[in-house]
Amino acid sequence: MSKKPLKILMLGAEAAPLVKVGGLADVVGSLPIALKQRGHDVRVALPHFSFLDAEKLGLKVTKMVEMAWADHVEYAPCATMHFGEVPYYFVGGSPIWRDKQVYRDGQRVDGAKFVFFALAALQLVHELDWKPDIVHVHDAHPGAAIYYLATHRQSDPFWAETATVFTIHNLVFQLNHIGESLHMGGLLPSEDANIPFWGRDGLMSLAINYADMINAVSPGYAAEILTDEYGAGLQKLLALRQERLTGILNGLDYQAWNPATDSALLQPFSVEQLAERVVNKHTLQAELGLPVGDDPLLGVVSRLDHQKGFDLAAQTLPALLKSSNAQLVMLGTGQPEIMTALYQLQEQFPQRVSLNFKFDLQLAKRIYGASDFFLMPSRYEPCGLGQLIAMRYGSVPVVRAVGGLRDTVLDQDQQPNQGTGFTFDAYEPAAFLTALQRAIRCYNEQPQAFLDLQRRAMLADFSWSISAQKYEALYEQAMAHRQAEHGN
Ligand code: GLC
Repeated sequence: MSKKPLKILMLGAEAAPLVKVGGLADVVGSLPIALKQRGHDVRVALPHFSFLDAEKLGLKVTKMVEMAWADHVEYAPCATMHFGEVPYYFVGGSPIWRDKQVYRDGQRVDGAKFVFFALAALQLVHELDWKPDIVHVHDAHPGAAIYYLATHRQSDPFWAETATVFTIHNLVFQLNHIGESLHMGGLLPSEDANIPFWGRDGLMSLAINYADMINAVSPGYAAEILTDEYGAGLQKLLALRQERLTGILNGLDYQAWNPATDSALLQPFSVEQLAERVVNKHTLQAELGLPVGDDPLLGVVSRLDHQKGFDLAAQTLPALLKSSNAQLVMLGTGQPEIMTALYQLQEQFPQRVSLNFKFDLQLAKRIYGASDFFLMPSRYEPCGLGQLIAMRYGSVPVVRAVGGLRDTVLDQDQQPNQGTGFTFDAYEPAAFLTALQRAIRCYNEQPQAFLDLQRRAMLADFSWSISAQKYEALYEQAMAHRQAEHGN
């Protein structure tokens, strides 16, 4: 428990299960619950996207926030609800409703939507007279909140002591060149020479430059983003702020993801009854039209794109299938050229490959609870959620040692008594192939070693409790910096 309960306002574009595009949603959905359990007053604000079903969610507009926007007054109708114990504010208004999706082309068109959201969320809690100790911004989208506080603290005593924390889930989505949207919200591009010229009207750069504390979603990624390879052009700015930058691994919601209680599984199981797990495998094989039996089953649940390494997978898997008895089940959608290459793989090995180009949470859970191995050959991976779920569900991860994957999966051959999976370094087919072959050899030839490995993976603890404490410490640091600067 931290010294005193804190008031924390979380801002994000997504929060599972209400709004979910990717892994960001799982974090914004579950971290507040973990912090709430530790006694903090955490509240989440989300854009009230027009696709949300207000009636179904029981959303009632309780406050009309008046915003100065461009050259007129814009209203932000704000609704509230509780999700579990956590209060949620849904911030509406025409800049948000004009668009029908969470993200539009990743960057520019989103400027007005998210700048409006961030500023209105701040104004909402101001009007409610609920003064946060911490405004915690997830990814660049609500980044204008950090910039606003940095530039308005002096003139508005309400915000004088509120500290800001910025969590980087993916440095690549920066929302650059949105000066026009900033301007609508009454903000000017920064003139700070530390920020690269092209980032001075970009939300990622502004959030990094002005946050009291910054963290990336794994220690590995926090180190990688300082390099030219992973820094996405912001490595120098990040280096300037290195004292304020740390890495905190995401937790996994162990209640939501529990193979012993998961109703999606025909045969729930735990580490004590691991032998029963095979029922799930045989059922899934039958369901997907794969030969039912003991051949190793490789699972994929992912966006099938370059970040996730499926161009590499498409180059590597033909050789693997040719040289082994492996079966493959894939679930997800992605870039057309990658899906085409995977389709060709299925044509080549129709008996052993099952492609499922769709989103299907129930099938995802069956894959986690049935496959022997789970593949994540990511080009970069800030944290990664799939490997954590896979481990909990007894599917041994085969991953590229990058970012959060490097931090969470220990290679079985490098650390035989501690291994929780198989890893490879170079982003090359030969390296991935070798890791896959080592994995399959272990499965085929050393059943006891495989079982021990599977058990260790299941017992690795990635629940939120440790990470939530680290966030508490980060909040304390941010507040200490704020106090020091405020005092001056
Ligand atoms: C982003 C990252 C992913 C991470 C997630 C949650 O989606 O790509 O690695 O797990 O955010 O932090």
